[in-house]
Amino acid sequence: MSTPRILMCPPDYYGIEYEINPWMSRSRGSTPDRAQAQWQALRDTLVAMGAHVELLPPQPGLPDLVFTANAGLVFGKRFFSSRFRHEVRARESPYFDAWFAQHGFEVEHLPEQMYFEGAGDALFCGRTLFAGYRIRSDAAAHQWLGSRLERLVLPLELVDPRFYHLDTCFCPVAPGAALYFPSAFDRYGRRVLQTHVDRLLTVGEDEALRFACNAVVVGKKVIVNAGSDRLAADLRGWGFDVVFLELDEFIKAGGSAKCLTLRLDGEDAAVWGLA
Ligand code: ARG
Repeated sequence: MSTPRILMCPPDYYGIEYEINPWMSRSRGSTPDRAQAQWQALRDTLVAMGAHVELLPPQPGLPDLVFTANAGLVFGKRFFSSRFRHEVRARESPYFDAWFAQHGFEVEHLPEQMYFEGAGDALFCGRTLFAGYRIRSDAAAHQWLGSRLERLVLPLELVDPRFYHLDTCFCPVAPGAALYFPSAFDRYGRRVLQTHVDRLLTVGEDEALRFACNAVVVGKKVIVNAGSDRLAADLRGWGFDVVFLELDEFIKAGGSAKCLTLRLDGEDAAVWGLA
């Protein structure tokens, strides 16, 4: 197996400076030292698992730049840059675009009128791209991407504002295998998942609210936010090693492990089928 490559951004300027999802509260704020320590533990764990972690320089005034999953969608050497719904996050895009251009990716932009929030809302499981829409990304953006990538895209409507990105309620762990929190989807979305993913693990509401679905998979190892014992037992039953990390400083902004990472060489669950 080649070395997994993951993009992260240190939380030097992380904080809760605006409220764009139900998790964020400016009055509660974040604790910078704790956030730094939790982020470092995530990075160290990924490195210990054999991943190569690339760092995007943090920028003052961009508190959510730590959530590199939202930079865009990586597909081979192509990088489809996000079009954020909220202006406070759209300001991150020039930094992400510059990094990808400097690192040998071809940077592509979606048409202007379509919102798209990258790997936060678009996850490959096998050859199929599963795509969450309505709260942040637009279904039209996913269709546009599907035609560019020549891949089947299955749009899934997100119906619960607490699970506003697909990666908060769905996580592919291997081709044909994923975990999900059913009530974040409508009945049709649940049926799409049940008929297009061979093996699905159901996450309970209490664990989903601790961001259990926002997991990072590296080979047969999975990093999960602390406090998801039932999911961990199920994953062990599937042959995975589970590592718990406390990332509650980032849950204050509506993110956990997966949101803080962007896989540059293709997720383990993805089958890109590129030459
Ligand atoms: N505060 C950020 C936002 O609302 C959190 C992003 C979390 N990222 C993710 N991939 N779910 O945009």
